Amino acid sequence: MKATEEKLSSKAQRVLSKSAEASVELGMALAQGLKPGDVVAFFGEIGSGKTTVIRGVCRGLGSEDIVSSPTFTLINEYSARVPIYHFDFYRIETRDEIWQLGCEEYFYGDGICLIEWAEIVEDILPSERIEIHLNNLYAEGKENTREIRIFRP
Ligand SMILES: Nc1ncnc2c1ncn2[C@@H]1O[C@H](COP(=O)(O)OP(=O)(O)OP(=O)(O)O)[C@@H](O)[C@H]1O
Ligand SMILES: [Mg+2]
Repeated sequence: MKATEEKLSSKAQRVLSKSAEASVELGMALAQGLKPGDVVAFFGEIGSGKTTVIRGVCRGLGSEDIVSSPTFTLINEYSARVPIYHFDFYRIETRDEIWQLGCEEYFYGDGICLIEWAEIVEDILPSERIEIHLNNLYAEGKENTREIRIFRP
């Protein structure tokens, strides 16, 4: 974890988002830099805005599908310029469930993978990935402010 913090503080691009709309826009901008085969790993607590940013990414990639956390299915697929695979590992209970999904096919395939709760599967993610780390700044009395740090390999 310490290594992660060091990496982020030295190389991450840091943005403060002050509204859900701003986070959607950030996702749309991010989408412009994505290419087939990319894996984007989202780290951050409940309500930090992972799904909100992903909504923007999907829109930016030209998807008109409704984006919501695939809480019970673990993976949602959206059609866009490139197929999008949206994972959410929050409710995963066993490592077997992860293997049963056949994650490797997705992670090393030609679609774009957007992964919520990446901390839970960090050990099986491709090392070549974009990381987005989100933080609620609630504690500072900024209810709608999120710190978003982007790290590219
Ligand atoms: N600056 C902001 N960026 C993103 N979301 C914000 C912001 N300000 C307020 N919000 C609100 O915070 C909530 C973020 O929810 P979202 O589902 O995106 O979080 P999440 O990280 O995916 O949570 P979960 O871990 O439950 O999947 C939404 O209700 C959104 O409207
Ligand atoms: Mg979510």
